[in-house]
Amino acid sequence: MTGSTLQGKVAIVTGAGGGIGRATALRLAEAGADIAAVDIDGQTAGETARRVESLGRRALALEVDVTDADAVRRSVDDTAAALGAPAIAVCNAGIIGEPSPFHEENVAHLRRQFAVHVEGAFHYMQATIGPMLTEGWGRLVCTSSIAATAGYPRGSSYAAAKAALLGLVRSIALEYASKGITANCVAPGVIDTDMIQVFGADRLERMRAAIPAKHFGQPEDIAAAIAYLCSPEAGYVTGQIISPNGGLWFS
Ligand SMILES: NC(=O)c1ccc[n+]([C@@H]2O[C@H](COP(=O)([O-])OP(=O)(O)OC[C@H]3O[C@@H](n4cnc5c(N)ncnc54)[C@H](O)[C@@H]3O)[C@@H](O)[C@H]2O)c1
Repeated sequence: MTGSTLQGKVAIVTGAGGGIGRATALRLAEAGADIAAVDIDGQTAGETARRVESLGRRALALEVDVTDADAVRRSVDDTAAALGAPAIAVCNAGIIGEPSPFHEENVAHLRRQFAVHVEGAFHYMQATIGPMLTEGWGRLVCTSSIAATAGYPRGSSYAAAKAALLGLVRSIALEYASKGITANCVAPGVIDTDMIQVFGADRLERMRAAIPAKHFGQPEDIAAAIAYLCSPEAGYVTGQIISPNGGLWFS
């Protein structure tokens, strides 16, 4: 999607300092949107904002921990003041943690996974849906994972949090389907970003070999799917899960 299909729209993208989030911010900017780039790392968010501006769009960098509901609300207010009310929220910030067998997994890690992925998305969707209802137009997209439906050995807490997102988003989709607001998930396969470096070279090679396409996805592959879900022509698409994964299905 290129051109100006999102001209005049303001998009908040979380985790925008990193791979998929940054690619998404740039892709939405190419489609004409102005971008609030949110990340816990203010420096990387700032770099994304600079790249958005170099595409000729307005941008704001916001250093926010998505688990902090007050900070999230302030960031949405700051976005509205600087760029205009958000019509698009891409809840993408995420963490993975060291692989850990379930019998050694601890509940603190489970809670952290739910805080970042589920509460973070909950806060941003709740803080942005008001202006979307006023406008009668909105796009909510959350980054889940193939792990949500396929499972993820030694990543049970991550997979559980990503699965919870599916139920959250599908429920929101049904509640607001008649209000011009869509809510969808992308569920990436294995994408070549900083996040997957935790697996180490040997496991990464085994993962790559198991992918029918025989290569990892690029952040732009996910950004393209997100941009479609955010587009005006995807107005009849809601409660869906799009999984760009190179043919990788475990189940
Ligand atoms: N890379 C993959 O293979 C893959 C597969 C499926 C799903 N995902 C999901 O895609 C999303 C993006 O991940 P990525 O692969 O681009 O990794 P990444 O590590 O490059 O990006 C994640 C970004 O989220 C930010 N972040 C982490 N915790 C945060 C917090 N509390 N508040 C605000 N920002 C925070 C990080 O600083 C980072 O910039 C994540 O939700 C991840 O779980 C990734």
